[in-house]
Amino acid sequence: MSGRPVFLFNSDAARGAVFREAFARHLPEVAFADDMETADPDAVRYLMTWTVPGRLDRFRRLEVVFSIGAGVDQFDTTALPPGVAVVRMVEDGIARMMQEYVALAVLALHRDWPAYAEQQGREVWRARPPRQAGERRVGFLGLGVLAQAAMERLAPFGFPLAGWSRSPRALAGVDCFHGADQLPAFLARTDILVCLLPLTNETRGFLDAALFGRLPQGAALVHVGRGPQLDAHALLSSLDAGHLSAAVLDVTDPEPLPPGHPLWRHPKVVITPHVASVTQPGTAVRAVIDNIRRHRSGQPMIGLVDRARGY
Ligand code: NAP
Ligand code: GLV
Repeated sequence: MSGRPVFLFNSDAARGAVFREAFARHLPEVAFADDMETADPDAVRYLMTWTVPGRLDRFRRLEVVFSIGAGVDQFDTTALPPGVAVVRMVEDGIARMMQEYVALAVLALHRDWPAYAEQQGREVWRARPPRQAGERRVGFLGLGVLAQAAMERLAPFGFPLAGWSRSPRALAGVDCFHGADQLPAFLARTDILVCLLPLTNETRGFLDAALFGRLPQGAALVHVGRGPQLDAHALLSSLDAGHLSAAVLDVTDPEPLPPGHPLWRHPKVVITPHVASVTQPGTAVRAVIDNIRRHRSGQPMIGLVDRARGY
């Protein structure tokens, strides 16, 4: 069938096979291609990729770039023509994995797991004073798709939940804070801080000494946003001074963390290699097909990025 618009998939072959099959079955009016070199440049309207590939200007009729992940900070948007829409990944698989990871990390911190792991290394059998979930205040930096999904999983445990965003939000069962003025009050009521902010010029280096200083004594951090949001030296100082009690880091700067970096062996730090949440092709392809249908019928796409704002 000639004349069909092309969806060009620039990622690994295993995911590509899932996308190819779903496009053939559910969106035959759009042709699937997965070879950047042989795809007809004049037919490519949609591109799915992790980073902006070179020689993009040959796709003169490109309309939408889909990010393979939820974040879009890896895109150099200055390399994209101004009229091209950028869409981040909003799909059930990513949300479900983030729910698991954040629930795991918050429960581990709530139940002093890192401290018990450290005690085990010294063969120490000593109970720490327990605290009830209703007395452990969990706060989210960012109140977007993933933070809301994670809070939904945590709510049944009874943690008092709060979140901080740029614009005002109203969410049932969540104390919502917004803007710079309300940040100190949000931090002061937060025992476990979960960072789910996108990386932008405003959030780079955001997790710094001043922010840690506003958290209550003994607070802990779960960082699942992006590595460059964290000042690692400020975190280490706060942990060593006993102000923060522990940190679970899924993201670092750089990734991977270099050999010998002090975070690797810190007894109060748990590190995972950016695995909190990974796009699941079976659910992601449904989200992309739905968005292409929306785009073709003039409806707003889900996850459309405000390119000026950066998320
Ligand atoms: P989202 O729906 O776009 O939500 C972003 C939230 O952050 C919004 O509530 C937004 O406020 C808030 N925000 C942005 N800039 C802010 C600022 N300067 N001050 C205060 N609040 C600000 O994003 P999402 O889908 O939840 O994803 C969040 C991030 O998670 C991604 O960008 C990515 O970096 C990270 N991530 C990590 C992994 C992993 O495996 N570790 C996996 C997926 C995603 P408004 O509500 O006012 O807009
Ligand atoms: C992973 O970090 C993503 O942005 O999906």
